[in-house]
Amino acid sequence: MAKKKLNVGLIGYGFMGRTHSNAYCKVGHFFDVPYEPVLRVVCGLEEKVAKAFAEQWGYESYTTDWHKVIEDDKVDVVDICVPNNVHAEIAIAAAKAGKAIVCEKPLALNGVQGKKMVDAIEKAGVANLVSFNYRRVPAVTLAKMLIDEGRLGRIFHYRANFLQDWTISTKVPQGGMGTWRLDVKAAGSGVTGDLLAHCIDTAMWQNGPIGSVCAMTETFVKERMHVETGKVEAVGIDDACTFFCRFDNGSLGNFESTRYARGHKALYTFEINGEHASIAWDLHDLHRLSYFDHRDESIVRGWRSVHVTDSDMPYMGNWWVPGLQIGYEHTFVHQAADFLVNLAKGKPTSPTFREALATQYVCDAVLASAKEKKWKKVKKA
Ligand SMILES: NC(=O)c1ccc[n+]([C@@H]2O[C@H](COP(=O)([O-])OP(=O)(O)OC[C@H]3O[C@@H](n4cnc5c(N)ncnc54)[C@H](O)[C@@H]3O)[C@@H](O)[C@H]2O)c1
Repeated sequence: MAKKKLNVGLIGYGFMGRTHSNAYCKVGHFFDVPYEPVLRVVCGLEEKVAKAFAEQWGYESYTTDWHKVIEDDKVDVVDICVPNNVHAEIAIAAAKAGKAIVCEKPLALNGVQGKKMVDAIEKAGVANLVSFNYRRVPAVTLAKMLIDEGRLGRIFHYRANFLQDWTISTKVPQGGMGTWRLDVKAAGSGVTGDLLAHCIDTAMWQNGPIGSVCAMTETFVKERMHVETGKVEAVGIDDACTFFCRFDNGSLGNFESTRYARGHKALYTFEINGEHASIAWDLHDLHRLSYFDHRDESIVRGWRSVHVTDSDMPYMGNWWVPGLQIGYEHTFVHQAADFLVNLAKGKPTSPTFREALATQYVCDAVLASAKEKKWKKVKKA
C-alpha cells in the first residue's frame, strides 16, 4: 500500500542539511515508517548553492527566503538546520503555520529565547523534536537501557568530555559558513552551547536532571577576523568550558569541552560509575560500549567491550548482520524513524523542545556561573 507522503521543507543546506537530507532519503529503506518523506523544498542563503543542493539531493525546489518554506501549504515538516541565532524566528513562524518542526541543537541562543519557542510550539500543538542525535547511537541507547534496568545501581559519578582542536590557529575567522560558531551573535555561546549541550542532553536523559553547576570558561584567542565585516573583532564565545554539577539524584557530574585539545577532532566520551557497575563510551569507537560489573565472578571480572551490532541491540535489527557496524550518519536516520513513527501515533519524540529547554537552562547556568565565579542553581524547564 502506498504510504502517506510527508513533505519536508529543509532550511539550511550545510553540514546538518546534508545529514538530515540523507536521513529522509534512507529512512524508508531501512525502517518500517508510516510516511514517505518527500524532499519538497530546500532553503539557504546562496541561490547557486541552494539550486545545486536541490539537484544533488532531489529536492523539488529551492529558495533563499525561509518564509517561502513556511508559506508553502504543501510543506508538512519544517526542518531547521541554520545557525543558532535563526532557530527561534523560524520555529515560531513554523509553529504558527501549524507545521511539524525538527530543529537542530542547541534549541536557541539562550533560555529566554528557548522558552518563547516552547510556548509557541506548545500553543500551536505541533509535533517537535530537537536534534540531539548522539542519543541515537546504538551503544548510547544501550547505555540508557542498562541504567534504566538498574544494572548500575545507585549512580555516583557522571563525567563527560567533548574535545576538539580546530580553532587553535588565530587565523580561523569568525562568522560565515561553519565558522559562525565563533561569532557569539550567531552562536550564542562557544563550546558550551555547541558541544557541552550534547553531553548535557545525553547525561540528563540517562541520569536525570542537573540541579546546580559550578563552571569556568576561557577564551584563548581574544580577537579574530570577521568574515562578514572584514574587520578584526573581539571574540565573545567561550573557547573552553569545564564544569562540575550535582544531579537531582545525588550523583556528581564533571564535564569538559574545548576546541584547544590538540590531537582531538571530536572526542565525545562519557563514563558513568554506579554502585554495581560502570559504563564508558567513546565517539571515536562509537560501536563499542565498555561495561564493568562488580557482581561478576572475581576470576573473570573486568571491563568488557560490547560490540553493539547484534540484532537485539537498539536499532541494529534494521541494519546489516551481526558484527557489521554503522556510523555517524545513521543516528540521524534513527532520529527520522522515531519521529515519523511517533508523528503517525500523535506521540512526542524525545528530546522535545521542552526537554531541549532544560538543556538550555543548564548551559545558561554554566555560563552565568563562570561569569560570576559561583555555584548557580539550574532553572527547571
Ligand atoms: N546535531 C549535531 O551533531 C550538529 C552538528 C553540527 C551542527 N549542528 C547544528 O546545526 C545547525 C546548523 O549547523 P551547520 O553545521 O549545518 O552549519 P553550516 O554553516 O554548515 O550551514 C548553515 C546553513 O544555514 C544557512 N543559513 C544561514 N542563515 C540563514 C537564513 N537566515 N536563512 C536561510 N538559511 C540560512 C546557510 O546558507 C547554510 O546553508 C546549528 O544550529 C548547529 O548547532 C548540530
